[in-house]
Amino acid sequence: MDAPKIMHDPKLDSPSFHRNVEPILALLKRLLAEPDLHWLEIGSGSGQHVVRFGQEFPHFIFQPTEIIPENLNSISAWVNESGLKNVKQPHLFDVTDNETPFSDDQQFDIISAFNVIHIAPWAVTEGLFRLASQYGNHQCRVFLYGPFKIDGENTSESNAKFELWLKEKDVDFGIRDIGDVNRIANHYGFGDAIRHPMPANNFMMEFVRQHSA
Ligand SMILES: C[S@@+](CC[C@H](N)C(=O)[O-])C[C@H]1O[C@@H](n2cnc3c(N)ncnc32)[C@H](O)[C@@H]1O
Repeated sequence: MDAPKIMHDPKLDSPSFHRNVEPILALLKRLLAEPDLHWLEIGSGSGQHVVRFGQEFPHFIFQPTEIIPENLNSISAWVNESGLKNVKQPHLFDVTDNETPFSDDQQFDIISAFNVIHIAPWAVTEGLFRLASQYGNHQCRVFLYGPFKIDGENTSESNAKFELWLKEKDVDFGIRDIGDVNRIANHYGFGDAIRHPMPANNFMMEFVRQHSA
């Protein structure tokens, strides 16, 4: 008899998801009153956020994306298990890449990246806003969640320590100054960030489209 196969569960469980999902949801429910929105998520990680949002916003359509194949499998598994029809299968996608998996006429109301831009090179922030200028509709909003510097300074001692850890991992990683992010946002036709302070020295930064870049 063949030995029983041990099936590996591809679903990843992110500890930070459990810490931040409730405050993020509470904020987004306050901000997003529209009945139906098309939402593109960059760096979906395990896929737990997008699936939870799919449950909480049943009339929105979500498109998750990821650069890491293992994460892609996890997102797919969470989506399949949820049975949700409004969360699409994830695309493998590097936001710094000029090639995208989207058709030219595809337009999103929301583009989000949670806990992404500090743990990636600066080119990821640029790529995000370039993408938003191309695939965001005229009222597109970009939401970036995570730690930020204000006026060049970290907002807490713990964020300063976290940044040292990030730099040890990769010198191109780092907590971004909101002034630098605003400059990129403005270049691509978005206004300065509306700052929503969040628990644990994080922010949800909301950028609203002003005009085409
Ligand atoms: C710290 S994780 C956050 C995952 C998830 N958004 C969350 O909040 O739990 C950062 C994610 O950004 C993704 N990422 C990094 N560089 C990227 C790039 N160039 N394009 C797309 N995703 C990227 C990583 O693969 C990773 O899943």
